Parts: sequence; C-alpha cells; structure tokens
Amino acid sequence: MYLIINGPNLNLLGTREPEIYGNRTFADYLSELRKALPEVNIEFFQSNSEGAIIDRLQAAGADPECRGIVMNPAAYTHYSIAIADAIAAISTPVVEVHISNIHAREEYRRHSVTAEKSRAVIAGCGLDGYELALRYLQAVDKQQ
Ligand code: DQA
Repeated sequence: MYLIINGPNLNLLGTREPEIYGNRTFADYLSELRKALPEVNIEFFQSNSEGAIIDRLQAAGADPECRGIVMNPAAYTHYSIAIADAIAAISTPVVEVHISNIHAREEYRRHSVTAEKSRAVIAGCGLDGYELALRYLQAVDKQQ
C-alpha cells in the first residue's frame, strides 16, 4: 500500500487559484491514477490540520503494509518543523510533491523544511508529480 497525503487547502483543487493549480479536482485525478496503476493499492488522506497530518504519518510509519508516502504538505512545507520531525521519525520513504514549481514563485515558498527530511522532491510537474513519485517509490521498494 502507498499513501498520498495532501495538506491544507488542497481539498479545494479544481477551484483554488486554477491559473496555478489547474482546474482538476483531486478526486478526479486520483480515480485516473488508480486506473493507470491498477496493481497499486493507493490510500489517500487530506487534512487542513497539522496534528492530523502528523498522526497519519506516525500511523503509516507503524504500518508495515505502507511501503511509501507521497506527501504534498502545502503551506506547511515552508514552516512546519513538527511535520518535518514526523517524517524524520519514521523509516517509510516520503517523496514530497508540489504541483507548482515552488522555486519560481514567492521567496517564502522557495524553502522547504519538510524536504530536508524527505527522500526526494518533485515540484512543478502539476498533478503528474504524484504519479512520478509513486513510480519512484515502487522502484525503491523493489530494490529492498
Ligand atoms: C503547494 C505549494 C505551496 O507553497 C502552497 O502553499 C500550496 C501548494 C503546491 O502543490 O504547489 O498549498 O504545495
């Protein structure tokens, strides 16, 4: 099983700043992703709350069935030491995904405290970044 975690405001994908994040809902993307990767069991969790994201990371870290995590921490990326600590506390590989290229936006988006604790980062590939991250995590799992 692979887990996708989306942070705050990503529940509004489809209507939120479509010029940056596109006009597709995540539910629509996820159903297509599951069809593209039928052999992969994908769980999905979204929360607007820091503590709930930390609780989900800890639970995934304690679950041997969870082989990898794709996480878009959204704005928490830039300042949540607590989420960064939760990533560091588990051995499950985490790939950080950003829909937009955070390096080509406001200065405050260029630094990621959570990326420092993540296995890899994908930014600026739009929603395709989630699929790329999943494929990478599958490759990592096969190497083990
Ligand atoms: C984001 C980039 C963040 O800076 C922003 O706060 C988000 C979305 C992205 O996917 O591009 O909410 O993580």
